[in-house]
Order: sequence, then C-alpha cells, then structure tokens
Amino acid sequence: MPREQGGGAEATDPVPVDSQDQEEKVNILVVDDRPDKLLAVETIIAELGQNIVKARSGQEALRFLLQTDVAVILLDVNMPGLDGFETAALIRQRKKSEHTPIIFLTAVSDTETHVSRGYSLGAVDYILAPVLPDVLRTKVSVFVELHKKNRQIRSLNEQLQKRIGQLTETNQALEAFTYSIAHDLRAPLRAMLGFSRALLEDYAGKLDASGQEFANRIVSSAKRMDDLIQDLLSYSRLSREQINLGPVPLEAALDEALKQCEPQVREKDAEIRMADLHSEVWAHKGVLVQMLVNLLSNSLKFVATGVKPCVRIWTEEGDAWVRLSIQDNGIGIASEHYERIFRVFERLHSTEKFPGTGIGLANVSKAAERMGGRVGVESQPNHGSRFWVELPRPSVHPHGSNSAGGG
Ligand SMILES: Nc1ncnc2c1ncn2[C@@H]1O[C@H](COP(=O)(O)OP(=O)(O)OP(=O)(O)O)[C@@H](O)[C@H]1O
Ligand SMILES: [Mg+2]
Repeated sequence: MPREQGGGAEATDPVPVDSQDQEEKVNILVVDDRPDKLLAVETIIAELGQNIVKARSGQEALRFLLQTDVAVILLDVNMPGLDGFETAALIRQRKKSEHTPIIFLTAVSDTETHVSRGYSLGAVDYILAPVLPDVLRTKVSVFVELHKKNRQIRSLNEQLQKRIGQLTETNQALEAFTYSIAHDLRAPLRAMLGFSRALLEDYAGKLDASGQEFANRIVSSAKRMDDLIQDLLSYSRLSREQINLGPVPLEAALDEALKQCEPQVREKDAEIRMADLHSEVWAHKGVLVQMLVNLLSNSLKFVATGVKPCVRIWTEEGDAWVRLSIQDNGIGIASEHYERIFRVFERLHSTEKFPGTGIGLANVSKAAERMGGRVGVESQPNHGSRFWVELPRPSVHPHGSNSAGGG
C-alpha cells in the first residue's frame, strides 16, 4: 500500500475521510519520491492534527485526487517520472482539483527558475529546503482553516438551498389554495346575487321599502365580494401562470393602457403629458399594459376633489434597464405607507371616498417581479406621487424569446 494516512503515526490503511470521527479533519496531501523527506514533512505537520496522505509519485497523487478532496498539496518539484510541475499542470486541468492550493517544495539552488514556472502553474506558495518547521506548519495551517471555512460555507449554502426549495413549495401550495378557495367562493356568491335580484324584480310588489332596501344591500355587498374575489383570482393567476417574455415597445404598451383609461380621462378632464418614448423593454405585453392601466388609473383616481388630474410620463435608460415614471398631482402618500400599499387589499382610504379593492398595486408589483423588474414610489402627502417601474432592456436578453414559469 503506497499511500499512508494518520497524523504522523505509523503508516496505516487509508481511513475514509468523511466517517463520523474524522468529520472535522481535512486531508493534506504530501507528494515526494523520497520516503525520508516524506517522513520529515509528515513529522512537522502532524501537530496540526489532520489526515496526512503521502504519495510517492505524481501519478499516485493524481489517482488519490480523483476520489478525495484535499485542503492543500505539498508537492516536491524534483521527482523522477512526472515531476512536480507536470503533476501540478495535470492537477489544474481537472475540475475537481483546479482550485486546490499547491505549495511547491524545492531546493534553494533551483529557486530562480522554479519560482516563476511554479506560480504560472497556479502555485500558492514555495517552501525552500531545508524546511523551517514553523514556517511550513503556519503556511499549511492557513490552508487547512480556509478549507474548513469553505466546507462550512458549502454546507450552509446547501441548507439554504434546501430551505428555499421548501419555502417555494409552501408558497406554491398557498397560491394554489388561494386560487381554489377564491374560485369556489364565486359559485354560491353568484347564487346569492341572482336570487336577491330575482327578489327585487319578481317580488318587488310584495316587499315594502325596508325589504327592498335590504335586498339592495345584499346585491351590493355580494357585488363587492365578487369584485374582491375576482381581483384575488387575477392576482393568483398572475403569480402562477407561465408568461412569455420578449421585446415590447413601451410607447405601444402605454398607448394601449391610455386607451383603456380613456373614460376616466374624459370624465375627470385629465391632462396627460407624455415625453417621446422610444425604449423597448423585455416584458409580456398584456401584463405590462395591465400594469400601466393600474398605475394610470390610480393617478387619475387619487386626486383631491375639484383638482384636475395632471399626469406626466417619462423614461430614463440605464445600461441594463429602462425606468418608466408616472407622476401625478394627487393627494400623495406618506412615506410610512410606501411598502404596504403594494400588498394585497391594502388601502389608505375608504371605498366611499375612493372606490377600489386594493389589489391594483399588488398586481403591479407581482407583474414587475415576474418580468424581472422592480417598482417603487416617491411621494409626499398633498404633493402628488411618482410611481416608477424598472424593466430589463431587450439587449440584456440577446437570445430572443424567453419565458417565466409560475411562482
Ligand atoms: N397615485 C396615488 N396617489 C395616492 N395614493 C395612491 C396612489 N396609488 C395608490 N395609492 C394608495 O394605495 C392604495 C392601494 O392602491 P391599489 O391600486 O392597490 O388599490 P385601489 O386603487 O384602492 O384598488 P384597485 O386598484 O384594486 O381597484 C390605494 O387605496 C391608495 O390609498
Ligand atoms: Mg388601483
């Protein structure tokens, strides 16, 4: 058995590195053709309490590295057959060991020619013979610590990935649950609406004024609940459905959104000032239009009584994104509410004052997320609001069409 392990002890059979009692230890590979030099190095670093693995040739070292992870390799330069440099080159060629630190062991007389060649092969350090025990131990211990830390990071990362996977699953289950609840709630609701309407139409003569008033209230409450459920369903659909992304001219999307807001614009005699928009964004046109409709309709809606809405729209371009801003002259929003208004059913006003279900901005935020973008707001009470949407530019996605799965 040419290979030996054990912290400076007699040569023994290889110990599986990841067995329980070896959990904390890391492997240090020492490669030298001369047993006396191997023993000398082993004696010095045994104090570190790690697994020392000895190889008597480059080939043997390479064989060992095929299966096992090592913290650092101490590699003699002058060996018959594969010398240290050739071995290092082969170690570097392999994915598994391309980043494993190598410390070359070499005689002082060879230093000059060796040092530059060694560094070009990715050596992290040199130790010159005769070896100074403290120097060797300190250098090796640095790489042992580094390896342990890396191992910890890897394991934390794995735990994190697992946790993310679990959370994603939980999230998907919750969204599916919301969808089915919302979907199933609509059927009895429609029955309530239908029968109260029938009551009002077919039995109007038999109901006195209060009876008719009560039936009317059932109708309007059922309608409001149906609106809420429909909005929840649209939000849930936006979260779950597959959407195909591609280049979309912003101006075309805005034109379409403005067309949908036309009745509101006319009713309020609003002024819309739009800068020339030439940008394209990486998006889904339908989702983008819906997002703009939500933002525009808010700008037209949340305006003090008697004030004529004035909405300004412009863009700014970064290297990777386009930012669209929609500025209004409305009632504004205090900064402590900036985050919460993007959540489902969060509203700052009564429906009597400003009608709505409070899902518009949640949809805007979800849509931005699904298209790889971001949204935000800057505002002050009584001084209007500026909502912005940042979306990737198509140049960032050179491979044409792409899609975003549900989630
Ligand atoms: N431009 C704005 N100016 C002032 N307040 C706003 C503006 N946009 C949104 N808000 C505030 O944020 C809340 C949430 O907006 P969101 O669009 O989600 O709901 P909504 O407009 O009330 O209802 P919906 O859009 O679902 O019909 C609003 O109720 C309002 O209080
Ligand atoms: Mg809204």
